[in-house]
Amino acid sequence: MRIILLTCFAFMHVLLSHAQKNFFTPEKMVETGVYYYPEAWNPDQWDRDFKKMADMGFEFTHFAEFAWAQMEPTEGTFDFKWLDKAVELAAKHKLKVIMCTPSATPPVWLVRKHPDVLVEMPNGQKGQHGTRQHCSWSNEKFRELTTNVVTAMAKHYGNDNRIWGWQIDNEPSHYGTYDYSPAAQANFKVWLQKKYTTIDKLNEAWGTAFWSGVYADFGQIEIPNTSRLFSGIASPISIVDFKRFSADECASFISMQYNTLREYVPKSQFITTNFMHIHTEVDPWRNKDIDFPTYTMYPVGGYSKGIGSQGFRMGDPWRISWANDFYRPIKGVTGVMELQPGQVNWGSYNPQLYPGVVRAWLWNSFAGGLDLICSYRFRQPLFGGEQFHYGMVGTDGVSELSGGKQYSQFMGEIRELRKLYKPDAKMPKEYAARKTALLFNPDNVWETEVQKQTYQWNEMNHITKYYSAIKTLCVPVDIVGEDRDLASYPFAIAPAYQMLDKMLIDKWKKYVENGGHLILTCRTGLKDRNGHFPQAQWADAITELIGAKIPIYDILNSETKANVNFNGKNYVWNVWGDILEPFTGTETWATYSDQFYAGKPSVIHRKINKGSVTYIGVDTENAQLEKEVLKKIYETAGVATNEQPEGVMVNWRDGFWVAINYASINNTINIPANAQIIIGEKELQPAGVVVWR
Ligand code: GAL
Repeated sequence: MRIILLTCFAFMHVLLSHAQKNFFTPEKMVETGVYYYPEAWNPDQWDRDFKKMADMGFEFTHFAEFAWAQMEPTEGTFDFKWLDKAVELAAKHKLKVIMCTPSATPPVWLVRKHPDVLVEMPNGQKGQHGTRQHCSWSNEKFRELTTNVVTAMAKHYGNDNRIWGWQIDNEPSHYGTYDYSPAAQANFKVWLQKKYTTIDKLNEAWGTAFWSGVYADFGQIEIPNTSRLFSGIASPISIVDFKRFSADECASFISMQYNTLREYVPKSQFITTNFMHIHTEVDPWRNKDIDFPTYTMYPVGGYSKGIGSQGFRMGDPWRISWANDFYRPIKGVTGVMELQPGQVNWGSYNPQLYPGVVRAWLWNSFAGGLDLICSYRFRQPLFGGEQFHYGMVGTDGVSELSGGKQYSQFMGEIRELRKLYKPDAKMPKEYAARKTALLFNPDNVWETEVQKQTYQWNEMNHITKYYSAIKTLCVPVDIVGEDRDLASYPFAIAPAYQMLDKMLIDKWKKYVENGGHLILTCRTGLKDRNGHFPQAQWADAITELIGAKIPIYDILNSETKANVNFNGKNYVWNVWGDILEPFTGTETWATYSDQFYAGKPSVIHRKINKGSVTYIGVDTENAQLEKEVLKKIYETAGVATNEQPEGVMVNWRDGFWVAINYASINNTINIPANAQIIIGEKELQPAGVVVWR
């Protein structure tokens, strides 16, 4: 098994290097760039600004994502002269250019002439010119006018070798809202008809026998709108279908632009888009045709406490790693297209960053295998809706801010590291042996949001608890979909995988029979793909696989803290607890220590051939139990983990180990005596970085 696995890793490594070679130079490992909006600055300053960028060590810049009004001032009249000048000056300073399509910010003439293009929000209000992402992906006119500007850009820059690649749109999404416009209503009906073919099948899937919900034909259907369904939701799955549809609409809007560009843009120029790193209404996996996805990343926006007293200035330790491990496996190549440069303007509060943390984020991005890193943005804006947003340089346009200095330092360090690059560096065996697939399906997030069962349930929190626990054990992770072959992963984990079918269960069974170690957690296998409970015992779909029944589960109020015992230690839980009834041969690893089911199992484990299945039925407060159980799973499988102090992330890439400290206290990293420390030292201060080989 080991040998097969290691051969698979080697094979995957070769595949990835080929993909990278198309657009990237492997020995550079990572290239850095920065956003610039020529349209917002005096042209007399462009040359000075590009020179400064190059002097700071940047290798590429990024243009035009919001410049539709400047590129097409009136319908059908295009003006690229100003942009040509910017491209020319960038090239003069040896900066490659990522050119962007401007569909996130249509010009006012478009909206005034075709008001139907606007999205409609759940309360019936329409979007308005003066913001962004306010047009409907479903609207044919909007698609047509987008295609026109994209075609003009592609014709103009498609054969320009100063253009490195393309970004489609900007953070494709409607920033959390959904589109209820007439165009979306019409397309939703078509989408449903295609999916269900007959109205009877839709009625069955949507469970419309409930509350008189039956439809006689597709024409009667409206987008389910939770703000109007005031006294309950008759068909939760109809909402999941709407979310699936919306994600498909976004994907098809991106594909449309991809195909338009590809008609004129040579294969040597990459085409990507920059998805948000958090899970939104958009599903990056649906875009199979873009060359590779990138993501945007703002770890400190007032939404995360991080670790310790200064964590709010550094962000969650797992956040960048999650994005790396989510986006990289999609095509084997990814990058962070926007990385927070310093203090921002849009958070619930916007603190100064912890000194040095921008460099720590840069190293975290590098460590996750990224090929490009781009800072958002070069200059701090003097006007507009993001005035308080830092850049690499401040309001005077020339003084380097702290983030700018940290970028320069990082790029200097990368230039030194490139000298040590070895193309044949192999992932260390003990690290590869831990390789874990984390299975993710947005359906599970969308579905549990509709019927949470406890207001405290948050699917993404549950999943990231596991993810951060695994990363603390220094495990390489790929976050993957169900289509991924799991053979190359010794371990696979599917947290709260509520919706599934027999095919997936069979795949999991085979995986375990072939020696894989599968970890399932509470809320897995409760429903089929239509969100129905099967007519069977509770969680019947997974009973045989986990070797136990789940007769009941419990949920507590936020004040009640209940306890679980694992290896003689107590852990507190309060959101969800499955009370398990194991079959003979299944080991009990943890039990509830109170409530009316005291003594009943909460974590169980069983071996199948050389593989194993572990079921963790409880969701604890701080994920300590989860981490300890995971540790035991790896150890029981004969695989050593390398546990790090809270807040420390250790990753391997291209022959280099990188450790980053997100904790508010110093942490010492265990570096073998025979290792060569290249950057930093073992004792890491908060936001400290050490690189060794
Ligand atoms: C991103 C967005 C950028 C800019 C940035 C500010 O989410 O893509 O265009 O608004 O936030 O932090």
